[in-house]
Amino acid sequence: MKKILILYKSKYGASKQYGELLKKELDSTIMNINDYHPGDEKSYDVIIFVSGIYAGNITIVKEVKKYFANFKDKKKIIFAVGLSKKDSALLEEIERQNLSGDLNNIDLFYGRGNYDESKLSFVDRTLCKIMKKVLKNKDRDSLEPTMKALLEIEGQKVNYVDNHYLIPLLELIKSIV
Ligand SMILES: Cc1cc2nc3c(=O)[nH]c(=O)nc-3n(C[C@H](O)[C@H](O)[C@H](O)COP(=O)(O)O)c2cc1C
Repeated sequence: MKKILILYKSKYGASKQYGELLKKELDSTIMNINDYHPGDEKSYDVIIFVSGIYAGNITIVKEVKKYFANFKDKKKIIFAVGLSKKDSALLEEIERQNLSGDLNNIDLFYGRGNYDESKLSFVDRTLCKIMKKVLKNKDRDSLEPTMKALLEIEGQKVNYVDNHYLIPLLELIKSIV
């Protein structure tokens, strides 16, 4: 039986929620990436990284790169959380933007997260305002799907977190453990 470690990084709770939903489905250990110390991964065979997408970037990729040597021989899976509707073009875009070089072979999955403008930190609210200002002046059809999502969500409070986004990842896990 392969041992599974779930490492999550979450600013507004959606990735934490997905991590906890995964934990319910899988015999596994869950840990906030902020509590991770090199060596914690030693006894695990599969690492599932869960985190949000901010301005196109899967935030936990920073730690995957930083500690890559520790995760090198493990089966690595990333579950990215964002606002855009899920489709194959979106996954390709996220993959292209985040998983190059050493990270090329990592399996990528995706689920929709949450957004509540009233709860954003000052920095994030400012960043969103700037991004929206820039995006509004561009031709809408030329926008990447993740950017379109940010424009469409303006001023709203949404929570799209749903178990069904985990199904493809759980199927992969079933085939390897
Ligand atoms: C400043 C900011 C930038 C964001 N950029 C994107 C983005 O580029 N693409 C996307 O799909 N979602 C984007 N989002 C939405 C987040 O990915 C979404 O809220 C997700 O649920 C965050 O996960 P977390 O709460 O676990 O951190 C952004 C949200 C904020 C606040």
